[in-house]
Amino acid sequence: MFTQIYLLILLLLSINAIEGSEFTINEATIQEIRTAFKQNKLTSKVLVELYIQEIRKLNPIYRAVIEVNPDALHQAQKADEERKANDPKSRSGLHGIPILVKDNIATKDKLNTTAGSYALLKSVVPRDAGVVKKLRESGAIILGKASLSEWAFFRSSTAPSGWNARTKQAINPYVATHDPCGSSTGSAIAVATSMVTVSLGTETDGSILCPSCANSVVGIKPTLGLTSRAGVIPISPRQDTVGPICRTVTDAVYVLDAIVGYDKNDEVETRKASKYIPHGGYLKHLKSGGLKGKRLGIVRDYPNFGFGNDTEILNKFKKHFMILRQSGATLIDNLEVTNYNDIIPMFLGEYIALFAEFKISLNAYLKELVDSPVRSLADVITFNKKFANVEKLKDYPQDIFLEAEKTNGIGELEKEALRNLTRASKLGFEKLMKENKLDALVTPYSYGSTVLAIGGYPGISVPGGYDKNGAPYGICFGGLKGSEPTLIEIAYGFEQASKLRKPPPIKNQL
Ligand SMILES: *[C@@H]1O[C@H](CO)[C@@H](O)[C@H](O)[C@H]1NC(C)=O
Ligand SMILES: *[C@@H]1O[C@H](CO)[C@@H](O)[C@H](O)[C@H]1NC(C)=O
Ligand SMILES: *[C@@H]1O[C@H](CO)[C@@H](O)[C@H](O)[C@H]1NC(C)=O
Repeated sequence: MFTQIYLLILLLLSINAIEGSEFTINEATIQEIRTAFKQNKLTSKVLVELYIQEIRKLNPIYRAVIEVNPDALHQAQKADEERKANDPKSRSGLHGIPILVKDNIATKDKLNTTAGSYALLKSVVPRDAGVVKKLRESGAIILGKASLSEWAFFRSSTAPSGWNARTKQAINPYVATHDPCGSSTGSAIAVATSMVTVSLGTETDGSILCPSCANSVVGIKPTLGLTSRAGVIPISPRQDTVGPICRTVTDAVYVLDAIVGYDKNDEVETRKASKYIPHGGYLKHLKSGGLKGKRLGIVRDYPNFGFGNDTEILNKFKKHFMILRQSGATLIDNLEVTNYNDIIPMFLGEYIALFAEFKISLNAYLKELVDSPVRSLADVITFNKKFANVEKLKDYPQDIFLEAEKTNGIGELEKEALRNLTRASKLGFEKLMKENKLDALVTPYSYGSTVLAIGGYPGISVPGGYDKNGAPYGICFGGLKGSEPTLIEIAYGFEQASKLRKPPPIKNQL
């Protein structure tokens, strides 16, 4: 059985190779695709057809895509016509480029928006999410929805990463037994395996950075509010953010450019953050020599801020430190987190706040739906109980939901937790960055995600290499609010100097 599939795929790959002697979608970058468009070697329609073919072939194995957009080909044809007519729209970076969006990001079309749950199947959203509106304006083609850890990993603490009721377990394309990480699992796997050009993920704490590291792709977790959260199935308006997951830093910056900016449906935070957007966009920060003169901080002994006290991890990253130094960065090593013992207990406030914020904001999201089988967190809990009994499918306890349902708004406890989180950011990350005049904090994997999450700070992860068994890992650069231009220079500088990403050994796994 496996051998037959193996032969079939070899055959399909070789057909692709013949057809694609001019252009191959494997690892194709936005710039390569745009060049092929310009030279009339490729149309958006053919591109969409190739990706749909890849999804049919690979998705039964990896489960990264939850739905394909029935209108994608139509959108591609429209993009092709606009390009032919030399429509000014066709000059935008994402024009005619297929993108997958995580299944917690609303699209007002034939696609469902379910966070991987049957509870939201057939629900009708009032409008496109703010980021989807911007994607459509840029001429991008919504190829479909990416799978995820169900409810962005805020339902069950025992369900594995990358599992949801609708698509079941997503598989890491490098090492099938390796954790694909979540919650933006499908977004990361789909770009890693070239089932799409680029994708969007969301992060509340680690959900862009971790799957990007685990699947050897690039993830940008933007400053809170730089990208609109309107129409995204929420966890917390204080921590949620939407960002690109792509194979290269350059592709991620094209996507970032398309989705940043003010949105009246996420009024307060997008207005505040729009001052950070550089005039003319982020592309100019993809410059060679971007690491020159950058001050990068390394924290060893304080978990949550970096490498912890683990010699094995430190040894693994020695070569990365060397690359950074050789590219002109100054590494400020062995940094001390003063106040560490005061700060760490404050971090515990994160979940106290998230439980209450989740209930409030999910209920508001569900109420605003035009039509929906569920209208509150309580309804979803009831649905899950019934569903687990009726379908007799493997299911996981909904302990996080139950914990959140117990909350009753932002009371004294939550207020104290929120004050703690603000203080922890001020005394911790902000102080560390400012006193040491750092451009970025370097962390292995997504180990700094909580520090970045509670303060709304941005981070970028870049492929860092592969363990002996072939499992990928990444390196992250985190900075103060609005520091995306600097982080992009650092991440691009590191990527160009290291070139560590390799496509997954797809055939070997079958
Ligand atoms: C959305 O869900 C409905 C109900 O299961 C299904 O019939 C429809 O095909 C789904 N849409 C897409 C684009 O898959
Ligand atoms: C780090 O590890 C070293 C050696 O194992 C130990 O001496 C030191 O106390 C540790 N530091 C912390 C903060 O745990
Ligand atoms: C706030 O932080 C203090 C430590 O400074 C801790 O004792 C307290 O439990 C925290 N409160 C909450 C609600 O997290």
